[in-house]
Amino acid sequence: MTDPARPLRFNAFVMNTNSHIQHGQWRRPDAGQVDFENVDLWIDLARTLEEAKFDAMFFADVTGLYGDADADFEVYARHGLQIPSNDPTVLLGALAVSTTNLGLALTSNVAQNHPFNFARQVSTLDHISRGRVAWNIVTGTQDNGARNFGLPQLTDHTERYRWAEEYVDVVYKLWEGSWDDGALVKDRERGIYADASRIHKIHHEGERYRVEGPHLPAPSPQRTPLLFQAGSSESGRRFAARHAEATFIIAPSPEIARRQIEHTRQLAVEAGRRPEDITFYQGLSFIIGDTEEAAREKEAEYDRFVSNEGYLAHSALVDKTGRVYDPATPIKDIDTNTARGFLAWASQAVPDREPVVEDVALLTRSASRVVGTPEQIADELVKWQAAGVDGINVINWVLPGSFEEFAEKVLPVLRARGLAQEEYAPGPLRQKLFGSPLLNDRHPAARYRGAFSAHARTWDEAADLRSGGRLPQLT
Ligand SMILES: Cc1cc2nc3c(=O)[nH]c(=O)nc-3n(C[C@H](O)[C@H](O)[C@H](O)COP(=O)(O)O)c2cc1C
Repeated sequence: MTDPARPLRFNAFVMNTNSHIQHGQWRRPDAGQVDFENVDLWIDLARTLEEAKFDAMFFADVTGLYGDADADFEVYARHGLQIPSNDPTVLLGALAVSTTNLGLALTSNVAQNHPFNFARQVSTLDHISRGRVAWNIVTGTQDNGARNFGLPQLTDHTERYRWAEEYVDVVYKLWEGSWDDGALVKDRERGIYADASRIHKIHHEGERYRVEGPHLPAPSPQRTPLLFQAGSSESGRRFAARHAEATFIIAPSPEIARRQIEHTRQLAVEAGRRPEDITFYQGLSFIIGDTEEAAREKEAEYDRFVSNEGYLAHSALVDKTGRVYDPATPIKDIDTNTARGFLAWASQAVPDREPVVEDVALLTRSASRVVGTPEQIADELVKWQAAGVDGINVINWVLPGSFEEFAEKVLPVLRARGLAQEEYAPGPLRQKLFGSPLLNDRHPAARYRGAFSAHARTWDEAADLRSGGRLPQLT
């Protein structure tokens, strides 16, 4: 069980868009997210988070529209529900130079960027931020998002994770194996900038990618960025168990979180890692009052702005014409993959009657909501920590107000109880969180360190070395 006196980790969960999770709140007069294109909003927020000693700012992202790819998308545009949305990776460059300690996590789908290019962008950001970048590895949930990259539809589930396995294999080779330590010489006297004998082509040949290398950037402070993942299916959890250092969950209760965490940690051990190699962040949103009554009043005020239509559209409970289903529709009558997951969820929540579409809206909007005084919130967080949760991804209602309020009202109470850090640990993000800037030797990426030192200039040479066991075999 987790030591109750250990500080929890805190990430700010955000997206470079107007309506991310709490749909309808953008209509509040204090909702700064309506102007999300204004970089000052993000720079000021990043500085506020750093002042409050948040561990990281975590940007979600998508590559397209939710719902039926052939249907009207009027509902999404009307709510500003993840359209318009801007690229988080580009924004992180601005945030990196505006902060010094805050971790900067970006979401990138394996389908959206070639791994050679992605690895280069991330290394560049890791250099700019002096080692504060994290990558949330996602495989997509949207047909439209897949079509934006030339695919007919979202790739089959199992295949998506096989794709992700090859993708991470390529980037690990580039980040960990292409440059030996000491390859960057910068010797003015001898006139040697970099030592080619210590820089290697990777000659990756797989089902989807053929990448020669070498990696163009020299090693960044973390080499591989801190790795996040948020898959929930069995194959998603296996992928997380193998690769993730941090996993994002939205469990409906600490008890359910405990089961999910124990299961994933067990899978990590089976994959040759240790239970503590993988950490868990629960997504929660907070409604804070000086008294419980004040918090309840505030909740009612937030609820006045809630858009059930927005929550349903985000859950892709939208028909072929692009309209969200009538709230009274029994979920069992809806024939989509998305609805099947919701049916199971809603059946647990309303076991005494037939779950309907409105139940999903009510569940999604109230799930992970914590309402109360700072002390009550601290008590609640202790329960999550006791269930094995290492940190909280704080979901916002409004930017920047939700984070300012959390920093001002809740964090001091948590700090007084030893539940939030007082100061940042030194060094890159991974060092702050795990004590070392580099991935540990148990991680699958570590096998590429020094693996390419048998030098192959051509694909033929690489094939010979591989068959002779002197270059890593494809996994
Ligand atoms: C808390 C949470 C946050 C997520 N954020 C994103 C995201 O920003 N972008 C994205 O494409 N998918 C995101 N996902 C989707 C997951 O990466 C994954 O594709 C989805 O949960 C389906 O999991 P599965 O493929 O294992 O079934 C998120 C999932 C969860 C649970």
